[in-house]
This record gives sequence, C-alpha cells and structure tokens, in this order.
Amino acid sequence: MELMEAIRKRASIRSYEDRPVPDDKLLKVLEAARLAPSASNRQRWKFIVVKDRERRKALSRAAGGQAHLAEAPVVIVAVATMPEYIMRCGIPAYAIDLAIAVDHMTLAAADEGLGTCWIGAFSQEEARKVVGVPDNYRIVTVMPLGFPRLPGREKTRKSLDEIVCYEAFRE
Ligand SMILES: Cc1cc2nc3c(=O)[nH]c(=O)nc-3n(C[C@H](O)[C@H](O)[C@H](O)COP(=O)(O)O)c2cc1C
Repeated sequence: MELMEAIRKRASIRSYEDRPVPDDKLLKVLEAARLAPSASNRQRWKFIVVKDRERRKALSRAAGGQAHLAEAPVVIVAVATMPEYIMRCGIPAYAIDLAIAVDHMTLAAADEGLGTCWIGAFSQEEARKVVGVPDNYRIVTVMPLGFPRLPGREKTRKSLDEIVCYEAFRE
C-alpha cells in the first residue's frame, strides 16, 4: 500500500471483530514503532501488548467504559519512560516521541488491514495499576488493535487554506 493510501485509509475504529491479530501482523505494527524517530534517538519508551481479556476490560473501565478497548483483541499501552525531559524549545519530548511512534503503528496497522484508535480519555492512575507501570513513567495512550467490524467515520478536515500560511504567521 502506498503511504498516502495508508494515511487516507487510517481512521479511528471503535468496533472490532472477535478474532485474534496474527503474530506477523502484530510484529509489523510493533516494528513500525521501533523504527520511529525520537529526540536524541533516546527511545525512552515501552509498548505493552495486552491480550488478556480481563486486563483489556480493566483498561476499558480506566477509559470511562470505552467498549472498543475491551472488544479489540489487543490493546497496546504506550509508556514514556523519561517523561521529565524537556527539550530546549520548551516542549516535553515524551509526548512527541510517543505520538510519532504510535502514529507509525496506526499507519502500519492500516497497511495490514487492521484498525486502531488513539485513546486520550483515560485515567492515568487506573491504567497504570492495570499494567503495573511505575509512578515515574507516563502512559501516553492505550490503543486498541484488531480487525475492524465497522468502518471509521468519514474524514472531516479543515481545508489547507485554513491551516497553512506562508513565510509568517497569519490567523
Ligand atoms: C490525542 C487524541 C486523543 C483521542 N482520544 C480519543 C478517545 O479517548 N476515544 C476515542 O474514541 N477517540 C479518541 N480520539 C480519536 C479522535 O476522535 C479522532 O482521531 C478524530 O475524530 C478524527 O477521526 P479519525 O481518527 O477517524 O480520522 C483521539 C485522538 C487523538 C489524536
């Protein structure tokens, strides 16, 4: 699949088939995260693959009952292991590093015919307990992965004119 095709095809999937993700597909998705860039190439991250049904249900509860987390056969918990590092630009590196790695996974998943959904609405403390993440680390997302049962919504996006300006900032 062409890169732009995967970018167009990727959508937030909130309904999954009840069948496992084959190991070769899962490994391709994880490999896409491994190859992602990170600030100073620190790679201070860990990706926890959760397949256990009870644990997925607990993660779903930690995310306010978002059912797709329990429904998907796999949940990938993306953990930043150096959340304290702030770049010179004033931005914490971990949020960017993990966003890039997770986005790589969403695109690789789309390429493999799999669905994903970025989840930001979850309790850090509850999710931490479910997968045993230490207090000094930070969970950036808990991402369901599986074969889509229903397609994602049609993309609604601003036009390029609204989001791009040239040479200097313009509202
Ligand atoms: C940082 C972030 C947090 C999000 N949190 C959630 C969430 O908790 N639950 C959910 O169902 N979707 C969540 N989404 C998915 C967005 O709603 C979705 O990406 C957006 O509506 C665009 O739709 P698309 O992903 O299908 O293109 C999140 C997306 C991002 C990038």
